[in-house]
Amino acid sequence: MNRKSLPLYILSAICLALVVLFFLYRDPSPRSETLLRDGWKFMKGDVKGASEALFDDSSWESVTVPHDWAITGPFDRRNDLQRVAVSQNFESEATLKTGRTGGLPYVGVGWYRTVFEADTSHGVTLLFDGAMSQPQVYVNGIRVAEWKLGYNSFFADLAGCLKDGENVLAVRLENLPQSSRWYPGAGLFRNVHLIQTEKVHIPVWGVCVTTPQITRDKAEVKVSIAVENADRALRVCTVIRDEAGRKVATAEQRTHAAVDTVVCRLQVDAPQLWSPEHPHLYTAHTEIYSGGSLVDKQVTRFGIRSVRVVPDKGFLLNGEVRKFRGVCNHHDLGPLGAAVNKSALRHQLELLKEMGCDAIRTSHNMPAPELVELCDEMGFMMMVEAFDEWDMPKCENGYHLWFDEWAERDMVNMVRHFRNNPSVVMWSIGNEVPTQCSSEGYRVAQFLQDICHREDPTRPVTCGLDQVRCVLDNGFARVLDVVGLNYRTQLYKEAYALLPHKLVLGSETASTVSSRGIYKFPLEVRDGATYRDHQSSSYDVECCWWSNIPDIDFALADDYPWTMGQFVWTGFDYLGEPTPYDTNAWPSHSSLFGIIDLASLPKDRYYLYRSIWNDEEATLHVLPHWTWPERKGRNVPVMCYTSYPAAELFVNGVSQGIHSRDTSLLGRYRIIWPDVTYEPGTIEVVAYDAAGVEMDRTSVSTAGKPHHLALSTSRSKLSADGEDVAYVTVRVEDEEGNLCPWADNLVEFEVTGEASFRAAANGDPTCTYVFHKPQMPAFSGCLTAIVQASTHRGKATLTASSEGLESASIELSIKK
Ligand code: GAL
Repeated sequence: MNRKSLPLYILSAICLALVVLFFLYRDPSPRSETLLRDGWKFMKGDVKGASEALFDDSSWESVTVPHDWAITGPFDRRNDLQRVAVSQNFESEATLKTGRTGGLPYVGVGWYRTVFEADTSHGVTLLFDGAMSQPQVYVNGIRVAEWKLGYNSFFADLAGCLKDGENVLAVRLENLPQSSRWYPGAGLFRNVHLIQTEKVHIPVWGVCVTTPQITRDKAEVKVSIAVENADRALRVCTVIRDEAGRKVATAEQRTHAAVDTVVCRLQVDAPQLWSPEHPHLYTAHTEIYSGGSLVDKQVTRFGIRSVRVVPDKGFLLNGEVRKFRGVCNHHDLGPLGAAVNKSALRHQLELLKEMGCDAIRTSHNMPAPELVELCDEMGFMMMVEAFDEWDMPKCENGYHLWFDEWAERDMVNMVRHFRNNPSVVMWSIGNEVPTQCSSEGYRVAQFLQDICHREDPTRPVTCGLDQVRCVLDNGFARVLDVVGLNYRTQLYKEAYALLPHKLVLGSETASTVSSRGIYKFPLEVRDGATYRDHQSSSYDVECCWWSNIPDIDFALADDYPWTMGQFVWTGFDYLGEPTPYDTNAWPSHSSLFGIIDLASLPKDRYYLYRSIWNDEEATLHVLPHWTWPERKGRNVPVMCYTSYPAAELFVNGVSQGIHSRDTSLLGRYRIIWPDVTYEPGTIEVVAYDAAGVEMDRTSVSTAGKPHHLALSTSRSKLSADGEDVAYVTVRVEDEEGNLCPWADNLVEFEVTGEASFRAAANGDPTCTYVFHKPQMPAFSGCLTAIVQASTHRGKATLTASSEGLESASIELSIKK
C-alpha cells in the first residue's frame, strides 16, 4: 500500500459523511424565487424584425429594475400635450392641457433585455408585478406573454421555450400618447420574479387563506391550496405560525392523483386580531410531499380579522364601527418616479401614520405588492382599485381600448394577488367611470362586482361615483355593496335617503389645493382660484369647483352616523394633473392636492388632519410664517391647527385674545385670529385644555437673511441592500436658526462613502429642475435630498452647499 494514500474504508467513510452532510444542509426547498434586478439592458425606441428578442444589445444602457425611463425628463410642455374637454369637470369645450401627465417623456416604445439561468427539468414562471405598459414578453425569441394594463401583475409559464443554462428575456413596452390623466411612469417599474418549481407545484397566487369564523377564543382558518400537475397521491401539510414563529395550528391532508385544490381547515386559539392599531400577522406554511419527498412549499402571510358593512351602522372591523381616516394616493414616488422602492413607500406611510391616517385608496389602479405588504405590517386598511375607465373613454387611448377583452383577466389577477392581505378591506371596481351614466352601466358594474365576489366572497365592493344624479336614478348605485361618493357632499343626505344601503362612503373627498409655505390674501374660501405664480394658498381654503375644503368632510363624519369616513384626495402630491394650472399654464407639472408635497414635506394641511385624526398625540401648529416685509401694518390672519380646545395668540408678547372653536365653516375645526396686524417679531400660540390650563406653546419668528443650510433626517441608519433610502430635509436658515420662508437658493449635493445621491425635490410644481441631478433650488426655504445605500456596510456623508451660505453635512451609517 502506498504510504501516502488513505485506506479505502476511511475514504468511504469520508464520502458517506459528505453525502449525509449534503442532504442535511442542502436547501430542502424544491422552489426557488429570485428577483431579476441587475444586469438589464434598456433601449428607448423600437426594434423591428422577426426575432426581436435576439438582437444585439451591446450599445444599450445598463439599468436595474425597477426602472422608470421617463423620470429623468427633461420636463417639457410639449410632452403629451392633450387637447381635451375634461367631461368629469363638466368642461364642454376642448382646451390645451399642459403638464397633465407631468410634462415628462413617458410616451413611446422601450425595450428591456436580460439573461437568466434555467434548468429545463423544472417548471419556470416569470411573474411581473406590473410593466408600463402593454408588455410583450419574449424568452429566447418566443413570445410567452402579453398584457395591456401597465399596473397589473401577470405571469408567464415558460414551458417549452427554455434551454438549460442561459436564456434571453426581452420585454417590449409601449405607452400611447393621451393614455393617462396623470403621470403613469414608463418601463419595468415594478419587480420581475423568476420562479422555479418542480413539475407538481402550487401555481402563482394558488394559496387562498380566509378566516370564516372568529371569536375571542378561537378563529377558524381555511387554507385552499391549488396544485398543478398532481399526477400522483400527495400529502399536503399546513402549519400556522404566529408572529414569534410559534406553531399555533397544523393540518395534514392526503390526496388522490389528479387533485387540483386541497382545502385545510385549522383552528387558532386566542387569535391576535389584525387592525391598524395592532397589525398582528400570521403565516401559513404549506408543504406538499410525494412519498417521502418534498415537492413544493410556500409561505403565505395573512391576518385574522373580520370586515362587515351594516346599514345605518357603517364599516365594522372586528365588530367595531370605524370611519375611514383615509387618503387616496397615485402610485408615483414623486422625484423617484414610478419605479417602486419599498423604503420610500415606508417613508410615506410613516408620515401618514403620524398624521393619524388609517387607510389608503390605491387610486386608480392596482398597487405594487410592496405597498400592500407594508400596509399589512404597519397597519393601514386598503381600498384596492382596479380602473379609471371601463368601456367608455376618459382619455383617447385609455383603458377603454381594451376593457371588453381584458377586464375579467385584470380583475381576476388583482383579486387573486391581494386576497390574502389583511390590510385590503374593500375592492373598488372603478373611479368616476363615464359608464356610470349609461343606461346599461349597472350591468357592467354588476359584472365586475360579481368577479370580485366569485374570487373573494369576503370583501365588500365599491366604486367611486361622481355623477350622483345619474347613479341614484339609473340603478347603478343600487347594485354596489358600498356606495362611494366622490365629492358632491351636498348630495350625501339624498343618497342616504334614496338608497337601500343606508350608508355613504366618501370614496374621494376634499381636493383642496395648496402650495407649501405660500399664503394668499385676503383669507377667503375660494374655488378655482388661480394666481400669476401658479401656486395655491396654504391657508387651506382653496379647492376646485367640484370639491371642498377639509372642514366639510370632518363635519359629515362627525354629524351623521351613516357616513363611513373618507379617502382624501390626496395624501401626497403626484406628478401630473396640476389643477388649477392644467390649462395651458406651463410650467406646472404636478398636483397641488397633496396634504404632503412632492418632496414628502408636510404642508400646513397635514397638521389640520393630524389635529382631528391622531388620537394618540396632541397637535399644535401655527400658520402662516411670520416674514412679511411687504405687509407691515397690514392684515395677516393667523390660524392654529390643534387638538386642544382653546388657544391664545401673542404678537410680540401682546395677547390677541383666547379663541376657541365656533360653529362657522372655518371655525369648527380651526382656531383663527382673522384681524391680526403684521409687525415683524414673534407670534406665539399658547394652547389650553377645557379647564383653561396651559398645555403647550409654539412660536414663529420673522427670519433674517439666509445664512446657512441645516440638514435633518428621520433615518440615519440604512441597510446595505442597494435600495434603502434616507430622506434628508434641507432648510435655509438665518443666523438664529429661523427658517427663511422666501428662500429659493440653489443647493448642490455631494454624497461620499457607501451611498449615492438618488434625487432631490422641492415640492414646487413650477420647478423644472430634473430630480436626478444633484442640484435643486429651495422652495419656501426647504427641499429634500434622497440618498440611497450601496450594498456595502460603512459610512456615507451628504453635503449640501449653496453660494453665499454656510454648507452642512449629515452622516449616515450603512449596516448589513
Ligand atoms: C376626481 C378624480 C381624481 C382627480 C380629482 C381631482 O374627480 O377622481 O382622479 O382627478 O378629481 O380633483
